[in-house]
Amino acid sequence: MSTLYKGITSLVLTGEKFGDVQIIEDAALAVSDALVSYSGKASEAPECDEVIDLGGKCVIPGFVDSHAHLIFAGERSEEFSHRMTGKPYAAGGIRNTVRATRAASEAELRDNAEKLIAEFYASGITQFEIKSGYGLDVESETKALKIAADLTEHTTFLGAHVVPEGIERKEYVELVKTKMLQAALPYAKWIDVFCDQGAFSLEETKEILEAGISAGLKPRLHANQIANLGAVPMAVELDCASIDHATHLSAEDVAVLSGSETVVTLLPGAEFSTRSDYPDGRRLASAGITLAIATDCNPGSSFTTSMPFCISLAVREMGLSPEQALWAATRGGARALRTQGGNLAVGDRADFVVLDAPSHVFISYRPGVQLVSKTFIAGKQVFERQ
Ligand code: NIG
Ligand code: FE
Repeated sequence: MSTLYKGITSLVLTGEKFGDVQIIEDAALAVSDALVSYSGKASEAPECDEVIDLGGKCVIPGFVDSHAHLIFAGERSEEFSHRMTGKPYAAGGIRNTVRATRAASEAELRDNAEKLIAEFYASGITQFEIKSGYGLDVESETKALKIAADLTEHTTFLGAHVVPEGIERKEYVELVKTKMLQAALPYAKWIDVFCDQGAFSLEETKEILEAGISAGLKPRLHANQIANLGAVPMAVELDCASIDHATHLSAEDVAVLSGSETVVTLLPGAEFSTRSDYPDGRRLASAGITLAIATDCNPGSSFTTSMPFCISLAVREMGLSPEQALWAATRGGARALRTQGGNLAVGDRADFVVLDAPSHVFISYRPGVQLVSKTFIAGKQVFERQ
């Protein structure tokens, strides 16, 4: 079965290089057996079994959200209110969500994650990562990862999110590296550590990542959100796929990252919701660093599932062009997960989004407006705006 989507005012394709975006006007997209079989000018489109006229819309690749914490219970709106009136963000708030998550049943956690995934679809996200990190004991972390593995192929073990209550730091680091890691292995693909003030030191982070790597997991990192503990050279040396947050980077860090395979994942929802200064995305882009944008969806520092909102912030507050931001939220996310996706070339999985707008620029030009009209994964519609 093949379907031809026509009536596309502007079709966005992404190239290999950061920010490389190709815009085809008066375009068509053909989908056969879940894959893109044509993407180009409407005038040259092939015959298909079925033709759908989108009536003048922009089509972009589905967003790839490479950083999301979807397995949790409870909410922390009170902390948010306090931050908005001057209290700084601290890593310790994570422990509040740990309490609620441990008390929740598997069904509650799954249900909450599924609701958030439905919101992802409504925001145009078609691939996403899920981290553990709100269980922080062997049983609760395993439970979280088990749910995550049912919901995505991009699963991350984040036992080292903070040291939970009731255990000595040294003992906890040892537990993460041994029993907890072993229990996570059947469900996790990645290992992540929060290397920051109030979370884990550089030495602890290295130990934990190395234990994960030895066990067969691939490394990625939360770092430099609150302070710069010197994580960047280590992250590059260990070939972390991505360093996420990266709010505080020295000139040396920028030099080390440029030319490396490590992506910098910007999480503008976190600066927004913690009322922190945004990192200078333009500085990083100019240095030749590959950037991704992710939602960081979590109940503490960034309770959003909206990639368009994050793109708007990255454009307005981090200095990215609309094209760079679109690339970062599609191809960049895929690069940060070292996976396929974020483009609509022939042979790619047909993950795409129909925007009720003439061009991708409208994502940030019309902030806060629901422009996602339809979302497709592997050619199947998973969301339609009513
Ligand atoms: O990515 N920074 C560390 N972890 C999450 C926040 C966790 C929380 O505050 O609950 C983040 O922002
Ligand atoms: Fe995070």
